[in-house]
Amino acid sequence: MAKTEKQDSIYRRRLERHHDELRWLYMELYNNGSMFAELCDNLSRFYGERDGELKKRDRLREEYPHWYRQNDMLGMMFYIDNFAGNLSGVKAKLDYLEKSNVNYIHLMPFLETPKGRSDGGYAVSDFRKVQEKLGTMEDLEQLAAACHRKNINICMDFVMNHTSEEHEWAKKARQGDGEYMSRYFFFDNQAIPEMYEKTVPQVFPTTAPGNFTWLPDSGHYVMTSFYPYQWDLNYRNPRVFNEMMYNFLFLANKGIDIVRLDAVPYIWKELNTQCRNLKQVHTIVRMMRMICEIVCPGVLLLGEVVMEPEKVAPYFGTVEKPECHMLYNVTTMATTWHTVAVRDVSLLKKQLDIVSSLPKDYIFLNYLRCHDDIGWGLDYDTLRSEGMEERSHKQYLNNYFQGLEGASNSRGELYNADPVTGDARFCGTTASMCGLETAELTQNAEAVEKALRLDVMLHAYMFMQSGIPVLYSGDEVGQLNDYTYKKDADKADDSRYIHRGAFPWKLAEQIQDKTSVPGRIFNGLNRLEKIRKSEKVFVCQADTWTIDTFDAGLLCIARHYEGEKILGIFNFSEYDKTARIQETDGIYRDMISGDKMEAVNVELPAYGFLYLKRDAAV
Ligand code: GLC
Repeated sequence: MAKTEKQDSIYRRRLERHHDELRWLYMELYNNGSMFAELCDNLSRFYGERDGELKKRDRLREEYPHWYRQNDMLGMMFYIDNFAGNLSGVKAKLDYLEKSNVNYIHLMPFLETPKGRSDGGYAVSDFRKVQEKLGTMEDLEQLAAACHRKNINICMDFVMNHTSEEHEWAKKARQGDGEYMSRYFFFDNQAIPEMYEKTVPQVFPTTAPGNFTWLPDSGHYVMTSFYPYQWDLNYRNPRVFNEMMYNFLFLANKGIDIVRLDAVPYIWKELNTQCRNLKQVHTIVRMMRMICEIVCPGVLLLGEVVMEPEKVAPYFGTVEKPECHMLYNVTTMATTWHTVAVRDVSLLKKQLDIVSSLPKDYIFLNYLRCHDDIGWGLDYDTLRSEGMEERSHKQYLNNYFQGLEGASNSRGELYNADPVTGDARFCGTTASMCGLETAELTQNAEAVEKALRLDVMLHAYMFMQSGIPVLYSGDEVGQLNDYTYKKDADKADDSRYIHRGAFPWKLAEQIQDKTSVPGRIFNGLNRLEKIRKSEKVFVCQADTWTIDTFDAGLLCIARHYEGEKILGIFNFSEYDKTARIQETDGIYRDMISGDKMEAVNVELPAYGFLYLKRDAAV
């Protein structure tokens, strides 16, 4: 068979597999056959334009759909300018990333965005243009190709809920062009916006209150769930869906492996609802999954659903009708920091048990910190039964992590503190939240030691969870909070910039010195990453469960796969402790020291941890 014929038949097979369901869902949402036909024509066009190397990658991944569920995946997320200046700078730093054992990099938003009105790049004014200071689309393609040669995957954000007010559609809409106004939510009076406000919560209650913005020049209100310069797209309009899919495929064809669906729960709006997680959102995500599997099946969808667990899991879809490949393990992340503050693992244990009881096909991204604030989305029903009220507990956590209450050396800042509800979120880097910044400022060697131990222990615990661990760039060398954002008028009112500082290459230069602070963290993590990559018991399909330690400060996680078993024991307290576990099914080996031991009444130093592997079952 000639090459093109073979390609055509591959495409036809993929299309045939999904066509009926795709058409059904599209017609259910839009009832517009000609727009569906246009969509199909464009899918075929984007497939035709897809690079041969990428197509090869697609086919390999189709044949081996478990490729991303192995134990070799380790992600890192960074801002291109913070990390390496621009896209070609990143290409020049791939060795450092390899040294960090990273095989998946999330490039934070890099598309065209207006200066000063960009929300860290999450207000896109052109989906097909890279910010000038960061490079060009060709640079992106070259970086992707260079990464692929080193088996590194590239992830980018697809900001699909809104565009910048500077996007060409927004500009035309502002001028009163009806065709473009219908791509957003425009109202010439307050009546409908007021109705929405009755049921729609606020994303940024203090930095950007309300869900609508008045445009005096156009005489209209426009829906803006996030900042006033981020205009919500109207996915009721099939033109919006089609065009956004073309943007998505355009970017996928540049060599992107993982597409992060930014703020995806918000994309469908309905009066008298919260405008979050509506069923049409799932229809759209399901269609995106099929579109991916038709045109670029090597690409993964990562849903950004920063919500409680009941809202998150449905974004995986079902086994027959999957939606996202991966989702953030956000509740576990927030619960982890709660555990650090209260030295009581019970809520975390419960949360980990919930996650482990989900189907193993559900792949979570585990992380300690990311570019956003921590929203304290905890299981307050459980906490209430232990006497902790939501409002006062959030207050405690925020005080604790600001270093104001409890035995805390943490430093950081509140985010969107709402005087009405008393609610506030929290910002800070991992190292600063672990107490390293205060310890270094006060030149307290003992406190530095504690902070380092806590920091490495938290990473060790994160690596033990099921799913894909993602490091926040800088954490591997103990990057501290950056307060320079306060001097930048464009950033000063957004404390998330405290943990979005320039990458500290000076610290990275010290990693060879294993006794230096960055060296201790980097090498501590490095050892664990290597263990994780070499032991098959870390694959996502492994059974994972927690074991009682009979001590509030100690967490024990077990993993089992094809006869192999490991235990991870983590001390979340500043006291030496004994985990009263009784795993008498064999002799265990400390995977770091190599010592053999029994997994019975195991001692752990303050903020210490152990990875124990069963040598042989008895
Ligand atoms: C996501 C991003 C956040 C941004 C928001 C609006 O939640 O993580 O940084 O502010 O979307 O696009």
